[in-house]
Amino acid sequence: MSTQSAPQDLVVLSKDNGIAVITIQNPPVNALSPGVPEGIAKAIAEIKADSTVLAAILIGANNRFIAGADIREFGKIAAAGGKRDSIGLNEVLDVIENCGKPVIAAIDGHALGGGLETAMACHYRVAAATAHVGQPECKLGLIPGAGGTQRLPRLAGLAKAAELCAFGDPINAATALELGIVDRVFAKGEDLLTGAIAFAREVALTQPLLRTCDKDAKLADKPDFDALRAAAAKRSRNLNAAQRAIDAVEAASHMPFAEGLAYEQKLFMDCLYSDQSKALIHIFFGEREVAKIPGIDKTTPAFTIEQAAVIGAGTMGGGIAMCFANAGIPVRVKETSQEALDRGLASIRKNYANSVAKGRFTQEAMDKRLALITPQLDYTGFDDADIIIEAVFEGMELKKQIFREVDAIAKAGAILASNTSTLSIDEIASVTTRPEFVIGTHFFSPANVMKLLEVVRGASTSLAAINTCMQLGKKLGKVSVLAGNCFGFIGNRMFGPYRREAQFLVEEGASIAAVDQVLYDFGMAMGPLATGDLAGLDVGWRIRKEVAHLQKPGVRQPIAEDKLCEMGRFGQKTGAGWYVYDAERKASVDPQVESWVREWTGEIPKREITNDEILDRCLYALVNEGARLLEEGFALRSVDIDIVYLYGYGFPAYRGGPMKYADLVGLPKVYQRIKEFEAQHGELWTPAPLLEQLAREGSTFEAYSKRAAVAR
Ligand code: 3HC
Ligand code: NAI
Repeated sequence: MSTQSAPQDLVVLSKDNGIAVITIQNPPVNALSPGVPEGIAKAIAEIKADSTVLAAILIGANNRFIAGADIREFGKIAAAGGKRDSIGLNEVLDVIENCGKPVIAAIDGHALGGGLETAMACHYRVAAATAHVGQPECKLGLIPGAGGTQRLPRLAGLAKAAELCAFGDPINAATALELGIVDRVFAKGEDLLTGAIAFAREVALTQPLLRTCDKDAKLADKPDFDALRAAAAKRSRNLNAAQRAIDAVEAASHMPFAEGLAYEQKLFMDCLYSDQSKALIHIFFGEREVAKIPGIDKTTPAFTIEQAAVIGAGTMGGGIAMCFANAGIPVRVKETSQEALDRGLASIRKNYANSVAKGRFTQEAMDKRLALITPQLDYTGFDDADIIIEAVFEGMELKKQIFREVDAIAKAGAILASNTSTLSIDEIASVTTRPEFVIGTHFFSPANVMKLLEVVRGASTSLAAINTCMQLGKKLGKVSVLAGNCFGFIGNRMFGPYRREAQFLVEEGASIAAVDQVLYDFGMAMGPLATGDLAGLDVGWRIRKEVAHLQKPGVRQPIAEDKLCEMGRFGQKTGAGWYVYDAERKASVDPQVESWVREWTGEIPKREITNDEILDRCLYALVNEGARLLEEGFALRSVDIDIVYLYGYGFPAYRGGPMKYADLVGLPKVYQRIKEFEAQHGELWTPAPLLEQLAREGSTFEAYSKRAAVAR
């Protein structure tokens, strides 16, 4: 057997008994970083020239095929106007397809994006049973850029190819086999390389050599592309890449392969230059970045959570208990009265029953989950819990009382957590004998659905407690973001000014529907006023009363929500808030509310308000507060804020989160607009010093975060 390596051993070629094996070894995911495409091309040239080689296998090291193009390169390519450090993947795929000898892709782990495109340029594809394949580029704001939209329809048909490219979800090996994307799947336990070599001898060397680009049979069946575009628009609202991916697949139905490839390349480059792609790539890395906490590494202890306990079975306590049960962790739930306990459990049961009715899981799974939840009226068994999460009403005195009680009974090393939305973790910790184990675990409502977990560190919280909660979040299926201990932490501290401006706009004459529509059209899951109705207007009302003594006299406060709460209009839960709701909780505009607001705010002059003003005031209120948080160190990086807004508040991923959005608009422009608002509305709009500084420097929040990380 002979072995040869390409530059830096990214690609290794070996030959044995007429079969060549090209192994990609670019850990961790075998991405097509510069050097890999060159290595493959060099190996193919060698195979072509070597008359002893009859066929080749392309495989990835460490049981992974290829996770796609190196996403880190895209920013550089876009900045360089399309120039790359490495040869284009299309050129290499052309070399593979025209090798003249059968090349078989042997897929384990993932063949994604450029990985699947590489596999499709091979003459055959075989896969391990556990493998997945897909074209997830649209999740990065891109379309497949190396023939995916042209070769996939030739293997799987136009409709399926359009769906895979526009939705981006990977499929398993069995489905890929059914669709014709792979030619053979090996059973669990069978060695992939051995199977691929056998396949080469048995099939590839006995059949005429066919290139994917020549397989036109499946192109005859043309789906309704407009209907596909409409379905994609519904599923991925405003996502340009999903639409363009379908355009490119449609091109395969009427253009020759080479023309289709050129068309795909044009659309790919358009997408690559777009803000949507910059935003989504920022989110891809951000989701991974937020798990990285200075001072925490593999040596930092993380306690295993095998038993959990929750205090309070209300909206949040019930949802949090479900999170544990869903992850298979037994959880005790304590309430103050049988009635409250029954109400909480009934709500959990109803929620699970809905999931069973919708086919999300079976009745048996529901019963198993319910059996993991122990409802109780006392602290029995709390001394066994590895974590105790308090989720009672938002009031400092009540929280302190609860923490005194749990401090007395919890075992040594147990985490004592509060789900408080706003209150000081340090003040809560001060009543315990173990502030190093006291932490905030701020779930979002509904806790069993929302993916965000804000982990709030107090001044004394230990790294082990932080690490435990960050890991716990992952186990519960959440994205955990670390926040510092300030009023409202990251999410709610910024949400205050955002919702304040939404209300001010109505008080100045904008319609309720217009405010919500503008933010919805921007991409938010819901407008700010409708969100208030969903969360319960009483939640903020209760908090405002708690912190009334902190209000600065003479500074304008929104009036309408307090008045609505005084009328018992708490939002969806009472059938009325900013809107009125029918039995199915469908919202309608209530014209009375706008006339009441006019009455309540008679002294505020009313005027025409443009959509631009609505958008800028709501979003820049978020950005300005985010800048303060960042500067004060309550958020580690700007991307942490972005991830909080994505998973906790329905901010559209393709805008990158509020801070990335501001970076993309340009901080000098954002700063200028905030100065205009300051001139009109006063000190609530004083620009954050960090924003002012970065605007002056022509810098970005992202660059600042990188500088700050280096300095740490
Ligand atoms: N490029 C660069 N880095 C990548 C990468 C890629 N394609 N895929 C993953 N990484 C990095 C991650 O950022 C992470 O880095 P870190 O350790 O420094 O944080 C590391 O590899 C490991 O990644 P994960 O933590 O995500 O590992 P998992 O094992 O959980 O998941 C995976 C593996 C399913 C492959 C997942 O990483 C993934 O989905 N990757 C992206 C796949 C993708 O989108 N491919 C398409 C790229 S675009 C393209 O190919 C265009 C083409 O059409 C021309
Ligand atoms: P809720 O009013 O729905 O439930 C609170 C529950 O705590 C009630 O059932 C009450 O009977 C119970 N309780 C009160 N004292 C108790 C005690 N001594 N022992 C046991 N149970 C007791 O309140 P909700 O909305 O669940 O809020 C709980 C906490 O979560 C608050 O701190 C709130 O700020 C926070 N939060 C709320 C969110 C929301 O959207 N509702 C979102 C995120 C955090």
